[in-house]
Amino acid sequence: MKIVSITGEDVIPPLASSLWKPKSDLFDKCAAYDEPARARALGIYPFFRPIEEMDGAEVLCEGKRVIMVGANNYLGLANDPRVVEAAIAATRKYGLGCTGSRFLSGNLMIHEQLEESLAAYMEKEASLLFSTGYFANQGALTSLFEDGDYILCDKENHASLIDGCRMSAAKIIPFSHNSPDSLRRRLARLPAEAGKMVVIDGVFSMSGDIARLPELMAVAKEFGAKFYVDEAHALGVIGPDGRGTAHHFGKANDADLIMGTFSKSLGCMGGFLAGDEDVIQYIRHKARCFIFTASPPPAVAGGVLRSLQIMQEEQWRMVKLWENTHRMHKEFRSRGFHIGTTETPVVPILVGDEQKAFFFAQKLFDNGVFATPAIYPAVRRGQAIIRTSYMATHTPEQLDHVLEAFERIACELRIFEDDAYQRAAREIPQRHPHPPVPKPGRSAAI
Ligand SMILES: Cc1ncc(COP(=O)(O)O)c(C=O)c1O
Repeated sequence: MKIVSITGEDVIPPLASSLWKPKSDLFDKCAAYDEPARARALGIYPFFRPIEEMDGAEVLCEGKRVIMVGANNYLGLANDPRVVEAAIAATRKYGLGCTGSRFLSGNLMIHEQLEESLAAYMEKEASLLFSTGYFANQGALTSLFEDGDYILCDKENHASLIDGCRMSAAKIIPFSHNSPDSLRRRLARLPAEAGKMVVIDGVFSMSGDIARLPELMAVAKEFGAKFYVDEAHALGVIGPDGRGTAHHFGKANDADLIMGTFSKSLGCMGGFLAGDEDVIQYIRHKARCFIFTASPPPAVAGGVLRSLQIMQEEQWRMVKLWENTHRMHKEFRSRGFHIGTTETPVVPILVGDEQKAFFFAQKLFDNGVFATPAIYPAVRRGQAIIRTSYMATHTPEQLDHVLEAFERIACELRIFEDDAYQRAAREIPQRHPHPPVPKPGRSAAI
């Protein structure tokens, strides 16, 4: 085909275009990428397992029933019949999707109703829905900053925060994980008049530790920096009525923006921001990943509205979740497993070597337990883990089964004798003592 400009000249002369060859094909790296195939050949590929049936604490996968300790369905609401019914009712009323952005033709009453409920729940003036939690972080971080601004980012923040930081116009200043001293040193070097915001996970998604919000917020305040908390793993888990870490510490007023997801305790998908009306209003008109994408399906809004209600009404879920969590912390530690600094239902089991972690996960699956390994870059190099997380709806028998499987496989693979394991165990930082997490309930003392 001859390509010509509007003035009629050849844009790419035909002879040159047919002779031109790239130095290497763009897709060569794809053909050369054989890590998944090698893991499959060893029978230890742990990802993309197709699930046939799912009823919360157990799933049917590759023809067998296995106990799920790899999901974030903390309160067991993803499969609650009332939530499913609410999603179906919203679908019947509005249809499957909105086929348009909230900005233009896809703004439903049920979206606004959910935003009002979330703002009230978070005790903030306003809230804004996003199609995913990833987009909520991206939307806030890409719209709020200009050249000359700074984001102070915890080094172990979730990838969605890191990506949002990278895409923003601000300069990123990483600080040591959960360290108010490191944050202070970084902030002290920045121009006093520059726009600054500290961005952090409330509960860290891999280590399960809780952000030291009171100290970190005090430092931020000293230097006039705004504060942003990602409550993805804290929502429904910690704080009065499961409002997250900022509320848990009685510091919701010092959190300028709170981000949450529907993809964990609320059992669905989607995300939101909660904050002052003018800030939310600004993001609503500036965030490209909010404006240039279709609005969340009605089923999501309907289902999440119902799970938000159940989460607050059925306090036993948080009570059971913490019973299971404390039990698993104690049992894993007493069996000699290194579970790092976790204080929450996210319980990482240290393995160290990546390939061994893959073998471990496969053996768990063969023994009726669904859990996946996390390797670099999700965790530090050489600190591969089996990431487990617990639910309110796990039974004592299921948890016993999980513990027995871990113990048997760790022996079989001689995990504790491994050099890589010993090295990784030495490198894991010591636990920062928090005040104990208060008993869940409306009147949880802070
Ligand atoms: C801390 C944290 N923030 C944000 C997200 C992204 O949330 P979503 O799955 O709703 O996109 C995740 C997801 O795992 C997360 O762990």
